[in-house]
Amino acid sequence: MAKINENYLLLPENYIFSEIEARIQKFKKENPDANIIDLGIGDVTRPLPKAVIEAFHRAVDEMGRPETFRGYGPEQGYKFLIEKIIKYDYEKRNIELSVDEVFISDGAKCDIANIQELFDVNNRVAVLDPVYPVYVETNVMAGRAGKPTDGKYENIVYLPCKEENNFIPPLPDEKVDLIYLCYPNNPTGTVLTKKELKKWVDYAHENESIILYDGAYEAFIQEKNIPHSIYEIEDAKEVAIEFRSFSKTAGFTGVRCAYCVVPLQAKAKDNKGRKHSLNKLWRRRQAAKFNGVSYPVQVAASAVYTKRGQREIKESIEYYLNNAKIMRKALKKIGLKAYGGVNAPYIWIKTPNGMNSWDFFDYLLENAQIVGTPGIGFGPSGEGYFRITAFNTRENTKEAMKRLEDL
Ligand code: MLT
Repeated sequence: MAKINENYLLLPENYIFSEIEARIQKFKKENPDANIIDLGIGDVTRPLPKAVIEAFHRAVDEMGRPETFRGYGPEQGYKFLIEKIIKYDYEKRNIELSVDEVFISDGAKCDIANIQELFDVNNRVAVLDPVYPVYVETNVMAGRAGKPTDGKYENIVYLPCKEENNFIPPLPDEKVDLIYLCYPNNPTGTVLTKKELKKWVDYAHENESIILYDGAYEAFIQEKNIPHSIYEIEDAKEVAIEFRSFSKTAGFTGVRCAYCVVPLQAKAKDNKGRKHSLNKLWRRRQAAKFNGVSYPVQVAASAVYTKRGQREIKESIEYYLNNAKIMRKALKKIGLKAYGGVNAPYIWIKTPNGMNSWDFFDYLLENAQIVGTPGIGFGPSGEGYFRITAFNTRENTKEAMKRLEDL
């Protein structure tokens, strides 16, 4: 009989958002009339921008005519999209990139889940705690995490981010090889200043580590001194890979398009100490495992960078951030402590009276039919916290806050 990869047995039984969905379905079954407002998974509600839809339609039509039909595209992505990404997302911030350094994909989740394949199984991994579970679980699957005890994996270094340290992660006490950073942060909604981020780039240089920088929520940054890209820090290209997505920025959660930047300077060693280009390895991996994102989707994504596209995505982001403002105001009124929601679509609530996060989940579901994400689902330091998202409609956001106030 075939044998399984036993590392999978070390995972929690369910992925956090599947677990929440199962609980919602159970509640719905028992309470068929309940009007649930879902502030749980970070999924957008605003439709695709008009500029995107029009481009999408045009590209689909092209696929239906023999003279404009396209088969397999380049695995790395079409140049027309890569060039726009470089021009608008990087050159605007004085960061130079070449077309060889940007890879288009079908999601930041997949990229950040897959990137660890380039690294040896014995690398020491550090994550912020709380953390987007994908970083940890993909390392568990690869056999890099060791056994779980008390909600932690023995070989993973957890860097607690709590109210007590202003959610600013401490540098690891020990040497780590791979560091996952996510800013603006999921789940706490907090950000790092340039000075704080520079400490990580310096650490990575000193310890020959690689930073895996998840910038999926970059477009939500409003405050001035907050870095949008890790490459705003000098010499970061040698030690950092950056991940971005059109999902939350342009409503692509159901369309799927993202990209990652693997700089030509980024290197890691083999067992003999010889340095290898991560860009080259990632290109090799993608060639063998990925056939690229569909042509219409890439055309649609490139319409995000038109004047109209930019205006439309700005409107959506403002809409969500206004939801966040409404939520922050309501939470303050009730007397609940909350963080984030200024440069990010997530609000991180401290549960009242030290309630544990799953109890708070059940309490809100049963008494207000509001769904959020229990902090413990993001790691041990998430206990005592609860995440809600600003991605619902204005109407539902207001209704949810009214229910909370009434409660
Ligand atoms: C979240 O709710 O944390 C996000 O939706 C996760 C994701 O983007 O995969």
